Amino acid sequence: MGKTIIAPSVLSADFADFGGALAQIVDSGADWVHLDVMDGQFVPNLTFGPKLAEDLRRRSPIFFDVHLMVESPQHIVPAFAAADAITFHLEAAIHAHRLIQEIRGMGKKAGISIVPSTPAAALNGLLPYVDLILVMTVNPGFGGQELIPECLEKVHFLAEERQKRNLGYLLSVDGGIHEKTAPAAVAAGADVLVAGSAFFNARDKAKLVQQLRGL
Ligand code: DX5
Ligand code: ZN
Repeated sequence: MGKTIIAPSVLSADFADFGGALAQIVDSGADWVHLDVMDGQFVPNLTFGPKLAEDLRRRSPIFFDVHLMVESPQHIVPAFAAADAITFHLEAAIHAHRLIQEIRGMGKKAGISIVPSTPAAALNGLLPYVDLILVMTVNPGFGGQELIPECLEKVHFLAEERQKRNLGYLLSVDGGIHEKTAPAAVAAGADVLVAGSAFFNARDKAKLVQQLRGL
């Protein structure tokens, strides 16, 4: 695998200034922008929908990593034409395999995510079909929580499966990622580090990105 991909999440940005947040992410040299879509049902919080991705898309060609924390994600997936990758939750989708095919049919990378209480083995049959697996390292809904260390064992398991089965998905970790927790995530096999509060709290954002990427 190549260099670690750094994906700041706008969840920790000033919601009155998403354009400014995007500029901060682009200027920091980060690779992806992580967009957390929440419906107030799958998770106890509400954020934004596809229009934000559409409007931000006009400002930058940077890779948009859309993370859907919504029930019945199949209804909203087609609206995310501005995304580069669309990730939905295994726990929220009955026909996950079909939805993966649909996302790929839109010309996007298809991602699947699991919350901390879902075992990695639940993804077994889907592994050959996904481009990205997002392992939640906190219970989704809010930024600024502490990483649950046991979740990294799932990253390790999925990295081993990838090697054993000669598969090519990217492994992403999301929740409680900062300078102190990132090394263990990368050691476990993470290729993508999502960081919300760590990024927006950092005074020198470019330095943080370089530091995380160098792990
Ligand atoms: C949490 C979201 C995360 C969030 C992470 O439900 O999926 O992407 O932005 O925030 P931090 O990095 O502050 O834990
Ligand atoms: Zn997320």
